[in-house]
Amino acid sequence: MIIAVSGKGGVGKTAFTTLLIKALSKKTNNILVVDADPDSNLPETLGVEVEKTVGDIREELKKIIERCGEIPGGMSKLDFLKSKIYEILVETDNYDLLVMGRPEGSGCYCSVNNWLRQIIDNLSGYYDYVVIDTEAGLEHLSRRTTQNVDVMIVVTDPTKRGLGTAKRIKKLANELDVKFKDIYVVANKVKEEDKEIIKKYADELGLNLIGILPYNKEIAEYDLKGIPLWNLPEDNEVYKEVEKIVNRIIK
Ligand SMILES: Nc1ncnc2c1ncn2[C@@H]1O[C@H](COP(=O)(O)OP(=O)(O)O)[C@@H](O)[C@H]1O
Ligand SMILES: [Mg+2]
Repeated sequence: MIIAVSGKGGVGKTAFTTLLIKALSKKTNNILVVDADPDSNLPETLGVEVEKTVGDIREELKKIIERCGEIPGGMSKLDFLKSKIYEILVETDNYDLLVMGRPEGSGCYCSVNNWLRQIIDNLSGYYDYVVIDTEAGLEHLSRRTTQNVDVMIVVTDPTKRGLGTAKRIKKLANELDVKFKDIYVVANKVKEEDKEIIKKYADELGLNLIGILPYNKEIAEYDLKGIPLWNLPEDNEVYKEVEKIVNRIIK
């Protein structure tokens, strides 16, 4: 099952994704995590060191081709990319992590980008769950990098406008004919007294609100001090809510 997390910047995508992976890893460790946000900080919130990104590999290949024309030793470009992807995959006890890094360039890079997508699609097949922290905005939808997603989770701040954005993502996905089995909305940083109004707005917009996460001082403090959110205690109120969301999604 491929789960993508999207939403505007700053709404809590990365925080949510981190806790989602933590909750999911209680069920299986056959999880591939893809950090697809160029502005990424998922490795930090997971507490993992990452040396190289897929973007770095693309640059490496470009430099070799510019310098030598071909890959020395007669290796094909596809095999080169494949071996490099396996090299940069970070394996932990709970999941494997791939960081995309800088976004794909345009123009003659096309075939390289297609190969990379193919390799990552292939790799995904080996896992029970693939969790993608996407970049803010909707570009990844129009570029169709999020094509084969089963579940799209849109994280939003607790505002009518935020829920409107979630609605737009849903609409755009339909227009682009991107096939998700389910699109869910998670409202984050919600004050207790605002829960009902958020539910009402979501209802009016026809959104499938799958969870409401409270504003939580412990999360703010961890991020302030640079402590990985992965280390949040399991009785943290937001983590407990995310556990429930995971159970609703994977049933
Ligand atoms: N439930 C929450 N309670 C308190 N602070 C939160 C919560 N969720 C996220 N934050 C804070 O909001 C900021 C943005 O979160 P982040 O996950 O980096 O957003 P995004 O990935 O969408 O840009 C961070 O400083 C984080 O600590
Ligand atoms: Mg983020």
